[in-house]
Amino acid sequence: MIQWQDLTTYVQQLTTADYSGHDWDHIQRVQRLSAYLATQEKVPADQYALIKAAALTHDVLDHKLAAEPELIIRRQVLQTHYQKAGFTATQRQAIFDIIEHLSFAANLQQHYQLSLAGQIVQDADRLDALGAIGIGRALYYGAKTKAPMYDPNVTARTDLNAHNYRRQVPVLTHFEEKLFKLPALMNTKSAQQLAQERVEYMHHFVQEFQHEWHFGEK
Ligand code: ADP
Ligand code: NI
Repeated sequence: MIQWQDLTTYVQQLTTADYSGHDWDHIQRVQRLSAYLATQEKVPADQYALIKAAALTHDVLDHKLAAEPELIIRRQVLQTHYQKAGFTATQRQAIFDIIEHLSFAANLQQHYQLSLAGQIVQDADRLDALGAIGIGRALYYGAKTKAPMYDPNVTARTDLNAHNYRRQVPVLTHFEEKLFKLPALMNTKSAQQLAQERVEYMHHFVQEFQHEWHFGEK
């Protein structure tokens, strides 16, 4: 049996002061989405704990949330927590393999082939960037990075790479550059379906947003 308490407390404590859309609520939603997708996709039950751990810790080593010296410490702390929780060396390696390669930025130039468990967590994380929640999180992230909500003159870039991806863009441009592309990038059928519904909702939002923005313009 896995002992979740210490690992959970560690992540909770890292994420409670986050106001960039990567807070504890995001982590919990990604855990629930992962559990849902794992059932839908008939993932073997022996993968469930691994998926839960990867979902719980998927943002701990994110380069935009911590700088390199801090990341080195976090890697060690995670290693200890996974071990104390009861994960074997092979399982720990599998979890690290997922959380170090699942981000959008990490897959911009070459596609990293994730394990089935990794594909589930990646889909769950990407689903939480879509729909009503996705809109909310993107606006939050935009405010955090001092980006405008919208600028009709800034169109989506087509040459995204790990280097220029982090350059600040208006939030609605980010929808075009990344978020609207996510349904096609989903690994699993169940996630693809949910993603399509969520993106459709976002398209309505953008339509109404632009309508209000340009209201009364000649
Ligand atoms: P990943 O960790 O997979 O690379 P991101 O960090 O790019 O994913 O995205 C995590 C969340 O932050 C998403 O909800 C996303 O929409 C938001 N986000 C990332 N970059 C921007 C941006 N330039 N403008 C608005 N929101 C962003
Ligand atoms: Ni995330």
